Amino acid sequence: MTTPLRSIDRIAGSSTAEALSRRSFVSAAAVGGAAAGLMVHSSLAAAEESRELRLALVGCGGRGSGAINDSLTINQGVKLVAAADLYESRCATMRRAISEAHPGKVDIDDSRMYSGLDGFKRVLDDPTVDVVLITTSPGFRPRYVRAAVEAGKHVFAEKPACVDPAGYRICLEAHDAAVAKGTAIVGGTQYRRQANYIGAVEQIRQGAIGDVIGATSRYCSSGIWYRPRQEDMSDAEYQMNNWMHFIWLSGDQIAEQAVHNLDTMNWVMGGNPLSAFGSGGRFTRPADSEMWDSVSVDYEYPGNRIVSFECRQIPGAASENSNVVYGSKGTCFIGSMSSGSRIVDRDGKQTWDMAGSIADAYKQEHKDLIDSIRVGKPIVELRQMADSSMVAVLGRMAAYTGQRVTWDFATKESKLDLFPENLTWESSLPKPQHAIPGKTKLI
Ligand SMILES: NC(=O)c1ccc[n+]([C@@H]2O[C@H](COP(=O)([O-])OP(=O)(O)OC[C@H]3O[C@@H](n4cnc5c(N)ncnc54)[C@H](O)[C@@H]3O)[C@@H](O)[C@H]2O)c1
Repeated sequence: MTTPLRSIDRIAGSSTAEALSRRSFVSAAAVGGAAAGLMVHSSLAAAEESRELRLALVGCGGRGSGAINDSLTINQGVKLVAAADLYESRCATMRRAISEAHPGKVDIDDSRMYSGLDGFKRVLDDPTVDVVLITTSPGFRPRYVRAAVEAGKHVFAEKPACVDPAGYRICLEAHDAAVAKGTAIVGGTQYRRQANYIGAVEQIRQGAIGDVIGATSRYCSSGIWYRPRQEDMSDAEYQMNNWMHFIWLSGDQIAEQAVHNLDTMNWVMGGNPLSAFGSGGRFTRPADSEMWDSVSVDYEYPGNRIVSFECRQIPGAASENSNVVYGSKGTCFIGSMSSGSRIVDRDGKQTWDMAGSIADAYKQEHKDLIDSIRVGKPIVELRQMADSSMVAVLGRMAAYTGQRVTWDFATKESKLDLFPENLTWESSLPKPQHAIPGKTKLI
């Protein structure tokens, strides 16, 4: 099968996927209480296993197309039956490619392809849709996930979960509502399901590097796309299309991209940081881009442990995507993408290593979601992804304002709510804002 929509380096081999599946069920249990029940085989579960699950995709761009491809590849008894995007043409392109890749698993007639800002609501109104994959730009995520939970749908939500404290609080509400309703929410932090990440965290927990003293984490790359404004576009349409460059939509690179690293740091450290102190700036972005080129943050975790973090998108500058955890007895390197993990002792001698495939992990999140629904023990892990996303927001708030910002202030007191009121396709929006440390207010 070809994967025309996303560069996936390998298709999951079933033995790797099954092994990882067993492991990730264990990790899912720790966060969502799912695992124990997955082994239970009641007659209800057997009946549920045979029922076809009907999927809808909201946000038919690069990752949305990749995510639905992953789900249809790894799962049996599932069908894609509806799609929504700002643009009907993107629904149609996705439908064509996915139908070719998965004949028999796609049944979207034209009346179930929705465009514009209301498309999402029409997906939720469809009582035959069981699972909604929400892969729009991040700014919509908290409200869309909450609405999907209210509508009784199971959810796959891409990262980041939120781009501001207001969105974080909505995610926590949605998490609790899903637990109460018995519906699933699985997040797109795929490294939580990748063998070499799971293995490294297990090694660290078992003391392989001694006491964890601190860490460095970097997501430095060479640049990102920019979609220029077309003549007939309103402010709203332009910003929603060129979403990466507007903070209410992307959260800046620290939330949009580097949340993977911060999620890994939270996982290793076993919780959220206490505070953040950071800086950065913008030098190469297009004039109306609100994004910074680079952000560096020191996060203080309980036990006086510092995570020194940096993200950067500057053409020509060196790329590095790494997580390094320092312990009293050794150092653990948790390699991003499919580069594997390893541990060295204080003399530099390698004592452990493990390979891992990001392509497998991308599929595993969809297998875990569907399996958990089928056995009646839905995984709910939004809080974990919301926490990691909020760590990114915390770092951005510290860097933009030039202040030390505490987790308690950001999560409990901050009034920052970036989502525009009464957003419509034709909305006029404020001119792009460029944060200036010392002038940008901490709110
Ligand atoms: N887990 C990962 O490794 C990974 C990788 C890439 C992207 N992502 C995440 O996936 C999300 C999408 O990224 P992408 O690269 O696919 O972007 P994209 O621009 O290619 O696709 C986003 C799509 O969503 C549509 N959209 C935007 N707002 C919408 C709305 N309100 N209703 C319906 N459709 C809407 C857009 O028209 C677009 O087609 C982002 O949150 C991104 O961070 C995750």
